[in-house]
Amino acid sequence: MSQETRHFAPSSDFAKNAIAQPELYAEAKADRLGFWAKQANRLHWHKPFTQILDWSEAPFARWFHDGELNISYNCLDRHVEAGNGDRVAIHFEGEPGDTRTLTYAQLTKEVKRAANVLINLGIKPGDRVAIYMPMIPEAIVAMQAVARIGAVHSVVFGGFSADSLSTRIEDAQAKLVITADGGYRKGKASALKPAVDLALDGGKCPSVKNVLVVKRTNQEVSWKEGRDLDWAEQLAAASDEHEAKGFNAEHPLFILYTSGTTGKPKGILHSTGGYLTQAAYTHKNVFDLHENTDVYWCTADIGWITGHSYVAYGPFANGATQVIYEGTPDSPDWSRWWKIVEKYKVSILYTAPTAIRSFMKLGEEMPNAHDLSSIRVLGSVGEPINPEAWMWYRNVIGGGKAPIVDTWWQTETGAIMISPLPGVTTLKPGSAQIALPGIEIKILDDEGKELGREEPGLLTITEPWPSMLRGIWGDPDRFKETYWSKFEGIYFAGDGAKFDDEGDLWLLGRVDDVMNVSGHRLSTAEIESALVSHPYVAEAAVVGAKDETTGQAVVAFVILRQDQLKAAGSDADVSKILRDHVTKEIGPIARPRTIMVVAELPKTRSGKIMRRLLRDVAEDRPVGDVTTLADTSVMDIISGKIAGGA
Ligand code: PRX
Repeated sequence: MSQETRHFAPSSDFAKNAIAQPELYAEAKADRLGFWAKQANRLHWHKPFTQILDWSEAPFARWFHDGELNISYNCLDRHVEAGNGDRVAIHFEGEPGDTRTLTYAQLTKEVKRAANVLINLGIKPGDRVAIYMPMIPEAIVAMQAVARIGAVHSVVFGGFSADSLSTRIEDAQAKLVITADGGYRKGKASALKPAVDLALDGGKCPSVKNVLVVKRTNQEVSWKEGRDLDWAEQLAAASDEHEAKGFNAEHPLFILYTSGTTGKPKGILHSTGGYLTQAAYTHKNVFDLHENTDVYWCTADIGWITGHSYVAYGPFANGATQVIYEGTPDSPDWSRWWKIVEKYKVSILYTAPTAIRSFMKLGEEMPNAHDLSSIRVLGSVGEPINPEAWMWYRNVIGGGKAPIVDTWWQTETGAIMISPLPGVTTLKPGSAQIALPGIEIKILDDEGKELGREEPGLLTITEPWPSMLRGIWGDPDRFKETYWSKFEGIYFAGDGAKFDDEGDLWLLGRVDDVMNVSGHRLSTAEIESALVSHPYVAEAAVVGAKDETTGQAVVAFVILRQDQLKAAGSDADVSKILRDHVTKEIGPIARPRTIMVVAELPKTRSGKIMRRLLRDVAEDRPVGDVTTLADTSVMDIISGKIAGGA
């Protein structure tokens, strides 16, 4: 793929008006910390900082740590005070077609009311609040309000199960859960509140004192008097006056759980000043945001980091007007997104390659039937975008001219790290290309030796950056071990990468046991432990197999318990039961595409499962080197059974 020869230089028109300028790279090179301080000073500081970075307790960084700011003030009040209160902050489109427009002035008032509600409920700075909501404006109001009073949010994606929710609430010891009765997805009202009830049932999660419920669908929900409170009633009774007070730049802002290589999700912790600095700077420069004229739409859910940095915070910090859409792209049919682009004249669209590939499969007809001429910048995130999908995105959605920014980053990095800059970079389909100004990366081999062009290795970040994670909630050792132990003082991201012969970076996928399904991060270990929690299953091994649309798909190999064989029934029955079981344990996103019942798993002499070989089977290619297996005949048995159509 690094044979890619297509190059797209920025047009002179675009370059002339571009926010990002080529000088940024030299400026950041000459004085990296000074460069970040300058970006930080685009924010409002209640108390200015005098220190930029304290790395003396590495890998625990402190950025701008003697300064104080309020993130919600930066995202809302200051735009109203600057006379931009009438600018639209949110164009909301519900899946059933209902719409709402919130100006900056209105959104600010809502957030102030919600902040007062939280204070009335006894939420104090540092307390954790879990948010489990559909993509509706109240979700943004909730996040902003929690942050405004210095509490810490933990947003749990609405597609996660009650079990996943309860583990996360428990780990963070959340005092309050903000949720909704449900939301609209795929043409119907789907429920959320019952999962919250289940998560808290029978005295689980005793830290939770209250549940605030937004009535979105008005479906019947059970109500626990004294614990459950109606969001609308509470807000209506609260004052819309609230003064945002400054918090230390290192005050914790949020925890977001993500999958690692073990079964237990990691609570990635971010703090305030550095996070907002980099979220705002990247949002402005990478998307070429002209806040007076652009309409920005990021399709990510707030349950993921993209929905934090590029929906809930970065865009508002920059005073952007953004579209928020509640539902799925196929509701009522696959032209929904293009209708939204046409209706709101979306000029910047940020989405994931999975979505692009799904549209591509359906052909050009639907996008071509809509006026997409407002689009001028396209973004991609979450997984590598293959050159064909890139070209289709540019030609069919971007009118053959919109620059595409392929943005590489992670929950841990907090904000975009590697991406072309529109108007500056000559683009190359499929490559994330170049570290942003202020970011230092290297590709290393296993021993830590720096690699040159065309040499695949491990992607590392060699200098601290403002929006870097500050730790794993409650587990400082795991933080050091996971990210900082492979190479001394250097952040190891878990991705393979290489520079091509022109110095452009190509991401080569994860090098650990983390899968990427539709741009969502899933852990093989977490799904394996869900599988073995079922009484039928003795052992399980999960791999991510290549999938044309979703990037990777979950494929599970299971060994059944001998005494359960009768009860389990046919392989087809078992497969259905176990797929449902994973859905219940983790959520629909983790549901395996395929379950293969096998008699043995390939293991090394030390008992480690060789996933590489299972991936060969799952991807339907000849099985690789089996010489390190304890029993080399195992793969013949597995492959034979699969080929036999069992
Ligand atoms: O493997 C990389 C992939 O997604 C992982 C991070 O997942 P998560 O923390 O869920 O954040 C996703 C949204 C930022 C990375 O380790 N990844 C992310 N962006 C890209 C990517 N792989 C290739 N190209 C990208 N642009």
